[in-house]
Amino acid sequence: MARRYAVAGTGSRAQSYIRAMFQAHPEEAQLVALLDPNPGRLAFHQRLVTELGGPELPQYGADDLERMVKEQSIDRVVVTSPDYTHAAVVSRLLRAGADVVVEKPLTINADGTRQIVDAMNESGRSVVVTFNYRYSPRNSALRQLIADGEIGTVTSVEFQWVLDTRHGADYFRRWHREKLNSGGLLVHKASHHFDLVNWWIASSPARVFASGGLFFYGADNAAARGLGQRPARGTIDGSANDPWLLDLRNDDTNRQLYFESEQYDGYLRDQDVFAPGITIEDNMSVIAEYANGARLSYSLNAHSPWEGYRVSVNGTEGRAELEVVERAAVVDDQIDPSYPSDRVIAGDVRTNGERLVLQKHWATAVEVEIPRGEGGHGGGDRLLYTDLFVGPTNDPLARAADVNDGVRAVAVGIAANQSLATGQPVTITDLNLGGWTV
Ligand SMILES: NC(=O)c1ccc[n+]([C@@H]2O[C@H](COP(=O)([O-])OP(=O)(O)OC[C@H]3O[C@@H](n4cnc5c(N)ncnc54)[C@H](O)[C@@H]3O)[C@@H](O)[C@H]2O)c1
Repeated sequence: MARRYAVAGTGSRAQSYIRAMFQAHPEEAQLVALLDPNPGRLAFHQRLVTELGGPELPQYGADDLERMVKEQSIDRVVVTSPDYTHAAVVSRLLRAGADVVVEKPLTINADGTRQIVDAMNESGRSVVVTFNYRYSPRNSALRQLIADGEIGTVTSVEFQWVLDTRHGADYFRRWHREKLNSGGLLVHKASHHFDLVNWWIASSPARVFASGGLFFYGADNAAARGLGQRPARGTIDGSANDPWLLDLRNDDTNRQLYFESEQYDGYLRDQDVFAPGITIEDNMSVIAEYANGARLSYSLNAHSPWEGYRVSVNGTEGRAELEVVERAAVVDDQIDPSYPSDRVIAGDVRTNGERLVLQKHWATAVEVEIPRGEGGHGGGDRLLYTDLFVGPTNDPLARAADVNDGVRAVAVGIAANQSLATGQPVTITDLNLGGWTV
């Protein structure tokens, strides 16, 4: 029999879960309620539910978590609210008697992890964190290669992630731009990446040092580069010729979800990336020591002209290298806001693609085939939603993530934030992350 679900936080991310419930898993998941403080975004998602053939659903405000669980006999809630709300929303839902599926990051600070772990222990309910990057075939292939012992024992990982001037810039337009809301990109974004490392090398972070800052976006950097007076927002003051500005009215979803809904709560989705008030970093470097003795050197840049990542894993028997170009260039962004990420420009020296290379000591390099399945993200989405709604399969790659994985993934970012503030390395056990240990 299908379990009774609600979605808490009906913004952009909620859409994919709602589609998956109606289209792929109607037998296992019945959506019975929506919760959000913003009536505009609730109405948007009711329209989506109707389009998918679903009924009129009861709607609840942000303070109605317990009432919703009780009135609608909810079994499980998908939490897709902003990161800073996760600790309170998840722990209240657990105590109200529901299981929880929560989007990454689990929470943004040590206090939040303690709140969630305490509520789990008291309620006996479960928390699953969705780490969709694990399910991407290329990331699974690297995990398989390491688990098969192809490079021997892992000694170190070099990991470079670049976010481009379209996707990367977007974190500087909305709630993510304030550290109190998102924990900065070392928590909000890099929790994906640190989760991958934890999972790839099957170990836990133990000690972390970080350095970084806001060197590109923000009012001070704009003034230092002589950018002059900037418009406050894309939609209101935007000029079509300014590639940094986002006009929400150019896209139906953005217009309904944000532009037409800002009248209810004043949430502005399109602030200028050079406007004051940004408290997160855009260039970050992290060194982490792992419990198994491996070392990670990681960097994240949020104003790159292309988007993707390079990861190299060194082992006692050789080295594995994964290189991914997700978007080779950002061009014509303002003119074509739906710029497809697979667009290739003739003559480009960089093109979208992925390559996994294995080189053993004393041998030439070989390219490792990346198996691809049907559906979104090379079949990864289908597997993720099956694990989520049907239950984890007997997966040799252990892709389904539990609350421990969620804590381990934010642990590096939380420690890195402390290191940024103090200039000192941070031992993860000193953070007291709710009884969780390496
Ligand atoms: N795994 C991924 O690749 C991925 C991608 C995008 C977003 N996310 C995660 O999904 C979550 C939501 O991100 P988004 O981009 O949809 O944000 P969003 O701003 O589009 O939507 C957030 C929604 O939560 C609502 N909200 C605010 N406070 C709330 C509260 N106390 N209780 C319930 N709802 C509340 C807002 O009104 C809004 O509708 C974030 O945690 C983000 O990290 C994950």
